[in-house]
Amino acid sequence: MKEFSTILTELTEGILLITINREDKLNALNKTVVTELNEVLDEIYSNPEIKGVIITGKGPKAFVAGADISEFKGMSEEQGKALARKGHDVFDKIEMSGKPIIAAVNGFALGGGCELAMACHIRIASENAKFGQPEVKLGIIPGYGGTQRMTQLIGKGKALELLMTGETIDATCAEKLGLVNDVVQTVELIDTCKAMLQKITSMAPFAIAQVIQSVYAHFKSGIDGFDTEIDLFGKCVATEDFAEGTAAFLEKRKAKFAGK
Ligand code: COA
Repeated sequence: MKEFSTILTELTEGILLITINREDKLNALNKTVVTELNEVLDEIYSNPEIKGVIITGKGPKAFVAGADISEFKGMSEEQGKALARKGHDVFDKIEMSGKPIIAAVNGFALGGGCELAMACHIRIASENAKFGQPEVKLGIIPGYGGTQRMTQLIGKGKALELLMTGETIDATCAEKLGLVNDVVQTVELIDTCKAMLQKITSMAPFAIAQVIQSVYAHFKSGIDGFDTEIDLFGKCVATEDFAEGTAAFLEKRKAKFAGK
């Protein structure tokens, strides 16, 4: 994979570890990070060697402390919309990836950082993780999908509270609200994410991609999630992996999925 200036990538046994690498700026998402994330996503979509993905931040302090505020100065309404549109496109691409993507939240996940974590399919937090959408303190609202994904994840009441107060919450509170799936010790964070991805990627890959698509159908306007599930169930039944999965069960052996 090509070298990036703001992102580190490491592919081991089918799992791609992406590290946002701007530790001195608490991994804030400037335009380059967003562009490079987009390029890595193209690679994730097209490279069959990549089975699952972890996104984390460099250093002990931050996952991502938000969009890069230094790039906000003097921005016009049109430029603001364009910035938000770009972020939406990239985060939608994370969400709609057929390959599982886990956020390993290793510290501050504020603003765009919290939005990045929420765009991932699963969030595992270290004990020192902190979450929040402090945009109102700057006179703006979340622009990378935060108002929508937070409401989907934790419900309207608590989402409105966090979005309007700009309050930061710790990992235990985030777990209680359902914002994160699990909280682990910092030293165990990446291994926990890897173990979860190994479990998921040992399943039939086509079925995993259809689970993702079917669940997100619930949130897409004009789409009936139940109809989507019926359609995608049928598609799974037509795969070689379905034949293999059922044969393996009946023959009392472990299935060997070919991803077909
Ligand atoms: N954009 C740009 N730079 C940021 C940043 C952001 N979102 N978050 C942190 N940084 C930079 C700081 O400016 C500082 O850079 P400097 O050393 O060149 O001055 C460096 O990262 C370290 O941050 P600092 O504020 O000194 O660390 P801290 O431990 O005192 O505070 C935070 C940590 C996360 C509480 C604080 O950095 C913060 O509030 N960041 C902004 C969070 C935010 O509003 N995000 C939403 C943006 S839309």
